Amino acid sequence: MTHILAIDQGTTSTRAIIFDADMKITAVAQEEFKQHFPASGWVEHAPEDLWDTTLSTCKAVLEKAGLAATDVTAIGITNQRETTLVWDRATGKPVHKAIVWQDRRTADTCRALKEAGHEELVTDVTGLLLDPYFSSTKIKWILDQDDTLRDRARAGELAFGTVDTWVIWNLTGGARHVTDATNAARTMLYDIHKGKWSSRICDLLDIPMEMLPEVLDCAADFGVTDAGILGAEIPILGVAGDQQAATIGQACFEPGMMKSTYGTGCFALMNTGGMSVKSHNRLLTTIAYQLDGKTTYALEGAIFIAGAVVQWLRDGLGIIENASETQALAEQADPAQDLVLVPAFVGLGAPYWAPDCRGAVFGLTRGSGPAEFARAALESVGYQTRDLMEAMKGDMGERAQSGVLRVDGGMTASDWTMQFLSDIIGAPVDRPEVLESTATGAAWLAGMRAGVYPSMEDFAKSWARDRQFEPAMDRDTRDAKYAGWKKAVDATLSV
Ligand code: G3P
Repeated sequence: MTHILAIDQGTTSTRAIIFDADMKITAVAQEEFKQHFPASGWVEHAPEDLWDTTLSTCKAVLEKAGLAATDVTAIGITNQRETTLVWDRATGKPVHKAIVWQDRRTADTCRALKEAGHEELVTDVTGLLLDPYFSSTKIKWILDQDDTLRDRARAGELAFGTVDTWVIWNLTGGARHVTDATNAARTMLYDIHKGKWSSRICDLLDIPMEMLPEVLDCAADFGVTDAGILGAEIPILGVAGDQQAATIGQACFEPGMMKSTYGTGCFALMNTGGMSVKSHNRLLTTIAYQLDGKTTYALEGAIFIAGAVVQWLRDGLGIIENASETQALAEQADPAQDLVLVPAFVGLGAPYWAPDCRGAVFGLTRGSGPAEFARAALESVGYQTRDLMEAMKGDMGERAQSGVLRVDGGMTASDWTMQFLSDIIGAPVDRPEVLESTATGAAWLAGMRAGVYPSMEDFAKSWARDRQFEPAMDRDTRDAKYAGWKKAVDATLSV
């Protein structure tokens, strides 16, 4: 019997998911791990936590499904992107905590590089913007901490990896130091047009190329698990960054198709086919997937805080106990109040790219309470998505407008949030039957490579909708609300 194990190593939790021969989910295991905030705007993970939770969720899901490791045909991996790890190849010990994609500590480095006129080169080569979000300035920061580290990296003693690379290194008992093209595309060191690491960008940031992993297609031979780890040698045959895996899982295989995933952050990707589109609206040009050596590109808008705003309602404000209570609370909000929350907790991503600004709330009255905060939090996700849609429209014209938006991720379970999203973007929003798009994408890559899952065409045909949300808000209200958001963002940026 065919079983594919998908590992989804995310920003706040690690998940392991078993898919059967029909690509149906039969078991899920999930574990949260600690977030470290050592300074304002800094976010770290313990590398051991990333690996330990990977291992324990894999073991737990096998047990839940009543399977042995020998029953697993292949593994597909998907992961939080950009998060940066550097470790010693001989001992496997990290030299620093993982610096998470949300971390802003390298804002000054990025500013200095921008002022020195390097952004054009960086964008031309990598498709990205000079922002602390990406891995390269984080690697530089780690190497700058200790005089010996750069020399050790140059001598080939240290390895850099995004989380996929770290997980594969550990699963294979240190045998493989590899990544896939989608993860490489997020490092700000990879030439997305030539399909290789850029020596010019590495030189610019003084990053020794000896520490970089080998880059493979998304469906490829990433090694086999060490038999001592899960109890059998299992081939790892699929890898993609989580947003790209969701694009695949949502079957956005045609140019112009677009998906938006609501996890910790929100990431909208539009497939642009074999052509990389340069954005004039501060979106990112990235790799959607690479199969059989053929690269498919995407335009991406990245918002740093989406689901995390609900976590903040729970952990920061303490006004809910469970994320699932948010919708009910938002529904009780006073319609006469117009609270606007700009959740720039770690700065703002696309299209503003303002690493130093911080969050703000506008329109507070004495009557503002938990319900108004809950509604403002959920609405902020819709407004930020509209910002991305406007930028995509600017870059892609009619091609961006024609389609519906396919959504996935935890927040899409809330009908209220999805209706507001459709209202504020003024376009239909499609929620798929299988909300686990990210894991599905990773599983499909591995299963397709193993020859047990359908071709891309057949997989696309099997994509099914659970519900379509149609815009119901009148145009004047939509425009007035969005104008209020833009004003709030302008004010936040000017502080
Ligand atoms: O670029 C960051 C992204 O990959 C993180 O995704 O789902 O962990 O918020 P998520």
